[in-house]
Amino acid sequence: MKKFFITTAIDYANGRPHIGHAYEKILADVIARNARLSGKDVYFMTGLDEHGQKVEQSAARRGIPPKVLCDEVADDFKTLCGTLGVSYDYYIRTTDEYHRSFVQKCLQKLFDSGEIYKAEYTGLYSLNAERFVQEKDKVNGAWPADYGQVTEITETNYFFRLKKHQRWLIDYIGAHPDFIYPKFRAKQVIEFLKEPINDLCISRPKERLSWGIELPFDKEYVTYVWFDALLNYISGVNFGDKKLADYWPADYHIIGKDILVPAHSVYWPIMLHVLDYELPRTFLTHGWWLSSGEKMSKSSGNVVNPLDYIEEFGPEPFRYYLMREMSVGQDCDFNHDRFVSRYVTDLGNDLGNLLSRVVNMLHRYCDGIIPSLDVTNPAILELRELWDGTGRSVLADYGDLAFNSALGRLFSFIAFINKFIEMNAPWRLAKSADSGARTQLEVVLAAASESIRLAALLLAPVMPVTASKILVALGADPEVSWSKLDFGPHLANKTAVENVILFPRKEANL
Ligand code: MSP
Repeated sequence: MKKFFITTAIDYANGRPHIGHAYEKILADVIARNARLSGKDVYFMTGLDEHGQKVEQSAARRGIPPKVLCDEVADDFKTLCGTLGVSYDYYIRTTDEYHRSFVQKCLQKLFDSGEIYKAEYTGLYSLNAERFVQEKDKVNGAWPADYGQVTEITETNYFFRLKKHQRWLIDYIGAHPDFIYPKFRAKQVIEFLKEPINDLCISRPKERLSWGIELPFDKEYVTYVWFDALLNYISGVNFGDKKLADYWPADYHIIGKDILVPAHSVYWPIMLHVLDYELPRTFLTHGWWLSSGEKMSKSSGNVVNPLDYIEEFGPEPFRYYLMREMSVGQDCDFNHDRFVSRYVTDLGNDLGNLLSRVVNMLHRYCDGIIPSLDVTNPAILELRELWDGTGRSVLADYGDLAFNSALGRLFSFIAFINKFIEMNAPWRLAKSADSGARTQLEVVLAAASESIRLAALLLAPVMPVTASKILVALGADPEVSWSKLDFGPHLANKTAVENVILFPRKEANL
């Protein structure tokens, strides 16, 4: 059976991991974890984009071969994925031999069928963007800063016929409403396609750039880095024992908004169409993390280093914050104070203290043993009803990629468990001489424990380690499954672990 295949963009090897990279991988990971829990056979691929001028230049600046630089950067990114709990199945590197040979096979096929041709071209070339640009790309009469130096050059190169497939692409997008997510991004692509598009220059003369995949039909040239990089989505699942049909078409290509047009929404669909592959199901296009409304950039010194936050607060609060704050598809400001407040209020007070209070009360009043639960007891009706609604809506939100809404609902439920405890005051019931007080105390503690267990399960795609810690603290099986989401006496007679601290208190000193 075909796997549920999800990919992220492959990161440029000329920089170090920043929040954008971390976010994209966490987003993909949350989708992957939810899909696995929903019974899908998931294959999650991420990786590194290693060729091109910028990588060559960065390596030259450090006086090391480009491959050595790429090996270092790959280690950095893989370490970050490990720290963040990103459960990828395969890490593709575009310097891998199977990738090189696949790219060359595709180029040869396109050349033989006349889809790639040689021509002399005079045009404006952006060193930073590593491509020919046009006057119409100017913003308010000036080249965008990230184009760097733009100069006119005349060069003989190889071109891929894009123009002749423009109509086909417009029709395809029109006929496939799920192809680009969110929908407003599809409109941007259609807008872009209203103007005639140029054929794509897919070669770079070796005298200018040697760090790339050599054209199989002309040894004087290497392949344009985007043409090479996009093919990773197929080369990574099409070698050795892997059968492409088990993976392709991809279910989600997860990418940032800056690389949708034209690379993913124009070059890639046309490449696939001409090479005779099916198109991916959905480009999931996320927004950008900003700093006080501005793009993060090294020059403005406002780049958020994920490692600072991970070191100070731990990887899972970082995952929680990113998923809780950003609505998938929209931009979002990274705000330090909000981060601290989410850590202190949601995680520390609402969730962490709730668990430690409940396990401590279980030890104080019940010898650490969770009492059996009569789910028909009227005292827990409201809690149970709230759970039923929460469980259903959170799963629906996960399926709809509405992670911020899912976490909002889940933490409202957690807030209600706190309220339930305050209202029923187990500490008073424990002292009460009333007949029935003891039973009531047991019902309250059992229902609170059960509610925390359920909340932990739903939290698992976003905070897998925390979820397991909570389950262990309640004496439950740490394995998460969506089949365990019913409110029942699952924890009866289990032993709770005393003194659990999920989120240590901090003097935030970042
Ligand atoms: N190498 C290309 C992708 C090739 S895919 C065949 C590339 N690499 S990148 O390192 O610049 O970016 C990797 C991903 O990180 C992209 O999807 C990009 O949109 C995303 N982000 C980079 N900065 C970002 C933010 N500030 N916020 C969110 N994501 C952003 O592009």
